[in-house]
Amino acid sequence: MPQNIAVIPGDGIGPEVVAEGLKALKATVGADAFDFTHYDLGAERWQRTGEVLPDSVLAELARADALILGAVGAAPGSKAIPSGLLERGLLLKLRFAFDHYVNLRPSTLYPGITTPLSDAVVARGPIDFVVVREGTEGLYCGVGGSMQTGTPFEVANEVSVNTARGVERVIRDAFERAMRRRKKVTLVHKHNVLVNAGGLWNRIFGAVAEEYPDVTTDYLHVDATMIMLVQDPQRFDVIVTDNLFGDIVTDLAAAVTGGIGLAASANINPTGEFPSMFEPVHGSAPDIAGQGIADPTATISSMALLLDHLGRRDDAARIDAAVDADIAARGSEKRSTSEVGDAIAARVSA
Ligand code: NAD
Ligand code: IPM
Ligand code: MN
Repeated sequence: MPQNIAVIPGDGIGPEVVAEGLKALKATVGADAFDFTHYDLGAERWQRTGEVLPDSVLAELARADALILGAVGAAPGSKAIPSGLLERGLLLKLRFAFDHYVNLRPSTLYPGITTPLSDAVVARGPIDFVVVREGTEGLYCGVGGSMQTGTPFEVANEVSVNTARGVERVIRDAFERAMRRRKKVTLVHKHNVLVNAGGLWNRIFGAVAEEYPDVTTDYLHVDATMIMLVQDPQRFDVIVTDNLFGDIVTDLAAAVTGGIGLAASANINPTGEFPSMFEPVHGSAPDIAGQGIADPTATISSMALLLDHLGRRDDAARIDAAVDADIAARGSEKRSTSEVGDAIAARVSA
């Protein structure tokens, strides 16, 4: 029986990169391993029908074996769509409804890749770490509001919700991953200021660490993390952090390891109760949409994360190897989105 994959190409470069992700996926597992169902969710559907994510569609998506998402959202500053409408109503709704509490974002500096890091930093050794970003709590919960809106007395609050259960389960996941890697976990927070949430994260981190005596632990405030990502990225193996810090950390992590066009991600529901969702870290990139120049590599690498999640480890490794080889062979010539996708799919099939 083929497994069912729900595909949400979305907005901007979303459909362009998803097409290449599917190409690599089909080249790897054949045309019949999966049934793909496409959903036209995103800006265009909202403009046409006023719908963001109807309950009936959410219920259908819940029955898929996995989800693939391109990206959603308009250009920052655009008046065409209220900011946050699609991000909250579609993307975050899916992460929350499907309890994607592990937002996994790997970063590797592949040989030959151009990086803004200094030669001295790169020479220090391989850069290969994963960020385990909490995906269902924190400042993303939508708790808050504003009073006296639009007046000089306006007060706007955004509350960060952190539960012991939510923090513990994601920290535990980070330690489990570290056991399969280089056995080091860095907690990133800001407990010198956020004493309540930071205190909870710190306490639970310490308690879980006691169960993993083989794992080295480390703590950094999020601001210092920005310094270390640029000056000493080799120190990281597994970073565990909250939802918003993880969002910020992973854009910088992407930028220092070859750019946002390479950064893959998985929104995982480890219990398997709900389907997990695979997407590039980047957004809809309205500034380059429609030009056929977006780098599809992040989406293609996200397909490897999907295959790994579905238990097809060898297939995942084939995509990773094809991506590695393509990146190693990249020269200075500019290729189109589909040229990159074709080249990687050809390497998978070879
Ligand atoms: P962005 O990631 O879309 O773009 C940031 C910069 O990176 C832009 O210069 C863009 O051209 C470049 N870029 C992104 N992906 C690229 C790729 N594959 N190849 C080459 N260059 C690439 O971030 P933004 O501009 O802050 O956001 C644009 C819209 O996307 C917003 O509406 C935002 O809310 C939304 N967004 C959605 C997601 C998602 O759906 N997962 C993620 C991030 C942002
Ligand atoms: C990401 C994006 C999303 C986030 C936005 C679009 C809601 O930036 O996936 O990194 O903040 O998680
Ligand atoms: Mn982001």
